[in-house]
Amino acid sequence: MYPAYLEENIHLVEDKRVRRLIEVIPRLGEDEKEALLRGYHPDYIKSSMRKLKVGINKGDATPVELADLLEGNSRIDPDKIDPSSPDYNVDVLVIGCGGAGASAALLAQENGARVLIATKLRLGDANTVGAQAGTQAADRPNDSPAQHYLDTMGGGHFENIPELVEVLVKDAPSAVKWLEKLGVNWDKAPDGSMHELSGGGTSIRRLHSARDYTGLEEMRVLRDELKNRKIDYIEFAPAIERILDDKGQIAGAILLNLETEELIVVRARAIIMTTGGIGRLHIQDFPTTNHYGATADGLVLAYRAGAKLIFIDTMQYHPTGAVFPLQILGQLVTEKVRTLGAQLVNANGEQFIMPLEPRDIVTSAIIRECRERHLGLKTPHGESGVWLDAPMIDVIRGAGTIARELPAMVRQYRRFDIDITREPILVYPTLHYQNGGIKIDTEGATNVPGLFAAGECTGGVHGRNRLIGNSTLELFVFGRRAGRAAARYAKDVKRGNPTLEHVRHWQKELKHAGLAGERPLSPKILPNYARTTRGHTKLEI
Ligand code: FUM
Repeated sequence: MYPAYLEENIHLVEDKRVRRLIEVIPRLGEDEKEALLRGYHPDYIKSSMRKLKVGINKGDATPVELADLLEGNSRIDPDKIDPSSPDYNVDVLVIGCGGAGASAALLAQENGARVLIATKLRLGDANTVGAQAGTQAADRPNDSPAQHYLDTMGGGHFENIPELVEVLVKDAPSAVKWLEKLGVNWDKAPDGSMHELSGGGTSIRRLHSARDYTGLEEMRVLRDELKNRKIDYIEFAPAIERILDDKGQIAGAILLNLETEELIVVRARAIIMTTGGIGRLHIQDFPTTNHYGATADGLVLAYRAGAKLIFIDTMQYHPTGAVFPLQILGQLVTEKVRTLGAQLVNANGEQFIMPLEPRDIVTSAIIRECRERHLGLKTPHGESGVWLDAPMIDVIRGAGTIARELPAMVRQYRRFDIDITREPILVYPTLHYQNGGIKIDTEGATNVPGLFAAGECTGGVHGRNRLIGNSTLELFVFGRRAGRAAARYAKDVKRGNPTLEHVRHWQKELKHAGLAGERPLSPKILPNYARTTRGHTKLEI
């Protein structure tokens, strides 16, 4: 339930709704977009970034919260661990298990590898399950991978790596079919064809959904499939260091049992990193849509093993994070709400941006509306926000559309006595996604032999701004490719002797740069406010 002063403002929003129904806000020109981004997008706040002083990306800028971890101290003492005496010995170790990890594990096994999944939380507890709106794939007669390619490149400001985008859009229709074969219940029209919607920055309807819990549905079938195929997994066991061999190839990983705090040594011919995002670093103190484990662990470990990172200075702030009530601060209000027709309006009940501009543009416009034009609204707890006029959807598309298309959203707000079929939603940008990450080729291979990566922990597919529905797609396309490629690599690789010498080398490099005493232990593993099973927040080992 909204407090009285917000209820009063809602009357203004309602009064202007009829006029807004026929109002068309034009898309911004390139110069206007550029000015908006430079003026208001959080990535452009110079003081929020720092140049790295050590490692392969030395000299590159990244948010200070991530820089601290990339320059962090190893959690292990290499003199106390024998990497040649493993607890597990496998062909392919998959680290992390959202959509990318599950897809990678399935394809690695299909291609003959002995696979082990190690995941920090529970199997499938990842950003994938929070993905609401859908998965893009150009599979309609009036669409094409070429059109999808152009939309994706445009959304990423044409800085995306073209080969990765080509693979993404060409593999997309088969990825959607693969998921359907495994059991995903896609939304369908009465004639059995896919029910597809559009989104910010997309020129055509190609978003495949399962209402507004698409990622949950996708993960449901993938998790079942992992279990059906009896793929081994260890839960609550994050990787905290990589084992290399004396040829500089991947040779395994050290895991931490979160419950007992014992170390687990895994020997592996190849590793696939699928550790997901970094939202729980709360860059610039933003709240986040991300799940509890999103603390950049994969980036840290890959970096320390010598893997190149790209686009690490660009984050995605989803325009519509919840700001009221406080209990759901930062949680996702799916873009599908705007896709279906809801407009963004200020405290005067007026639109200030075309609601389906790409995300970085809409985010910047909301920040400008609140910070510069002072036309946002304040919550009782002092957060700023603008209205997302959800009830318009039923006005435009007919009564019952919201209930049918957005059941998760309806339920999320009903818990707090807010009926989104009748009342607008208060929103502000929230940290959603890292556009950059580990550099990969089209098979998910990195520059470190035997190290593969897929999903949100990688960079290049989305350039400087990701479009809706391309993240879940990326998980399946690159997860499958990395799984296949890692299995093939594992068959052929000539192994050397496992060693932790690179950890000693890393610590020396930190000392030389004067950072050893300055930086935290990394990877971070859990957010600052986490309580471990032992009731404290530090995981010192
Ligand atoms: O708005 C959303 O439902 C988020 C989708 C995405 O990040 O692709």
